[in-house]
Amino acid sequence: MLAQRTTRVGASPTMQVLLEADRLKRQGVDVVDLGAGEPDFPTPEHIKAAGRAAIDADFTKYTATAGIPELRHAIAARYRADYGVDYAESEVIVCAGGKQALYNVAMALFGAGDEVVTHAPGWPTITDQVRLADAIPVHVRSYPEDGFALKAEPFLAAITPATRGIVINSPCNPTGALMSEDELAMVADEAARRGIWVVLDLCYESLIYDPVPHNLPKVLVDRLRDLAVITGSASKAYSMTGWRCGWALGPKNVIAACTAIQSHSTSNACSISQRAALAALQGAQDCVAEMLAEYRRRRDVICELLTASGRIRCVTPAGGFVLFPDVSDVLSPDGIRTSAELAQALLTDEHVALTAGEAFDAPGFVRISYATSLERLREGAARIERFLDGLARGTRQPRAGS
Ligand SMILES: Cc1ncc(COP(=O)(O)O)c(C=O)c1O
Repeated sequence: MLAQRTTRVGASPTMQVLLEADRLKRQGVDVVDLGAGEPDFPTPEHIKAAGRAAIDADFTKYTATAGIPELRHAIAARYRADYGVDYAESEVIVCAGGKQALYNVAMALFGAGDEVVTHAPGWPTITDQVRLADAIPVHVRSYPEDGFALKAEPFLAAITPATRGIVINSPCNPTGALMSEDELAMVADEAARRGIWVVLDLCYESLIYDPVPHNLPKVLVDRLRDLAVITGSASKAYSMTGWRCGWALGPKNVIAACTAIQSHSTSNACSISQRAALAALQGAQDCVAEMLAEYRRRRDVICELLTASGRIRCVTPAGGFVLFPDVSDVLSPDGIRTSAELAQALLTDEHVALTAGEAFDAPGFVRISYATSLERLREGAARIERFLDGLARGTRQPRAGS
């Protein structure tokens, strides 16, 4: 019999879409893959060169658990420059991705009986990590009518005497929405008053399209530095998902606890990746701006194509590279009943892979990644339109198994 905790979590549903699409692609099927949660760009050349140089210099051994000092220093320097917050090297840990950073933090801060408030729609890993820590996830909702903006009020209303933490992801996967500084300030003030941890996942912080105020680290540091943890990642900003390099910044005792936990799981982030991440953080940032400009072009094209017929409604994302359209108008009790069925039917009938909103605790929506070429996006939108036309005319011929 497996340990009880395994009953609380399943494999990440966002990964399952990729697996299914991959299986079809391996069979030679021309799948338009809009399921990917990762950039399609190659890792920028100067970052790859730093990785190669690390290998050539035999920088291929264990490092300190919390990461090489130069990188911890560079991460602190980056947050100081970008947000005006001060973290010492001892307040930074380098991990195998932002995901491991968040996992370490969940293990360090949350335990049996603790309630941890986070938002839906939201990235399912946050919820499942809370469950793995034996704690209880509590979801507060954001709504398309508000552009999915993360508001303070529902967080405040969800706080109970058992609340131990609040986890916020801005820009949010899957909505692309932001939390404003004012709304976070209200949450932070209350959290400070009640001694509640606030964890801020800034994985998409470099991919915000317009220059809106988003100095969330400063909001937290000014109000509850001793109760705040910030996580980030090289994955999305620098197209480095496979290198597995992320980090957390927080009070020394939290980072020490994370380091102890990590020392008994993965030890350190890959030595080569750490050197590459150092080059990413210290090098010119034009590559990020270029990728963001391309995401913006794609966002605008795919939003327009998908909403042209009026059957699908969509909030324009403020950050990241996914859309989260509302498909509830095309669902019906005697046709395709749920967004999960829609995602499955689109994959089966039109070979378009996208992720059902159910994966993000948001039935009635689908997540469409535009981390793919404009040409593939146009093809994907055309296939989705053709499918929806068939549905509307009642002429869709479901294939076996759809
Ligand atoms: C919201 C969010 N946070 C954190 C991560 C972690 O990414 P990584 O582990 O690649 O740094 C992801 C990855 O998809 C994400 O979507």
